[in-house]
Amino acid sequence: MTRVFSGVKPTGHLTLGNYLGAMRRWVAVDQHRADALFCIVDLHALTVEHDPARVRRLSRQAASLLLAAGLDPALCTVFVQSQVDEHARLSYLLECVATDGEMRRMIQYKEKAVRERGRGGSVRLSLLTYPVLMAADILAYGTDEVPVGDDQVQHVELARDLAVRFNQRYGYTFVVPRATRPAVAARVMNLQDPTSKMGKSDDVGPGIVYLLDEPDVVRKKIMRAVTDSGREVVYDREARPGVANLLEILAACTGGEPAELSGAYTSYGALKEDTAEAVVEVLRPVQQRHKELCADPGHVEEVLRDGARRARATARPTVDAAYRAIGLLPAA
Ligand code: TYM
Repeated sequence: MTRVFSGVKPTGHLTLGNYLGAMRRWVAVDQHRADALFCIVDLHALTVEHDPARVRRLSRQAASLLLAAGLDPALCTVFVQSQVDEHARLSYLLECVATDGEMRRMIQYKEKAVRERGRGGSVRLSLLTYPVLMAADILAYGTDEVPVGDDQVQHVELARDLAVRFNQRYGYTFVVPRATRPAVAARVMNLQDPTSKMGKSDDVGPGIVYLLDEPDVVRKKIMRAVTDSGREVVYDREARPGVANLLEILAACTGGEPAELSGAYTSYGALKEDTAEAVVEVLRPVQQRHKELCADPGHVEEVLRDGARRARATARPTVDAAYRAIGLLPAA
């Protein structure tokens, strides 16, 4: 059976980008057709300035939201990264096959390092080695497919490179994974700046739709989305990024095609109204289930405990094999 692994980082409230780019497929497709694991990657949240209490809170919230979005623990494994030691154990071995040049070429590292320095802070070493930990997340589970949005594809490619290199040097140990991307909404853009990604760690609130935004807040944000100076509704990501973004969001929420949908509109206002309503309808059941889960925190804790147990059992044989292959003595 195909093994699927993916993750979400608790550095901010989850967004419409996370949902349309990744979570929605995990729920609708991956958990049904594959042996799938979904992880709240809390160790990754420590790579930039962080508040410990907030990371804990966001980790719990992310877990509830994954379940609220429809991940079913009877079909897949949902767990928290730091509760499974194999990730950190394997990450060190992979640091011994990765190079610093590879790390410095990662686009997200460059962007985030600039941002951290801009805020007057220093860059944590873990930010540089972040993609190695991400490779460990993936490789520990013998993963075939990694369903992600566009921004994570480069990291999955690094995981592939490290798997191939490790296998060549030390003998076959890791399955070589590949990234899978959604057909639409692989890169949902910020509504106020449609040339940059809608990212949960960004500070530009009005441009980001959060999964827990009230319907009226969602409507307001979408109605105020920056569009382009033209008037016609055409789907052109280069020339009309604002309108293209709305068409992609609408298409992803309604199951249509962005270019086809554009023909149905003669004004930006109508496009915005329909997009806002489509998003509100997609979020409604998620928000409802999230409210129910908040009333039952014991259930979420139990799901995570059981998920960690299952994840550990899945990862351990591969990580132990990597330890032996690279030249370490078996556990005493
Ligand atoms: P994170 O937490 O930033 O995002 C989680 C998932 O959501 C996708 N995504 C988007 N898709 C479309 N448009 C957007 N605006 C948008 N914003 C986010 C991301 O591509 C991702 O699929 N490094 C990863 C977490 C991670 C991981 C892993 C993922 C750690 N280890 C192993 C897969 C496998 C991250 O920061 O995702």
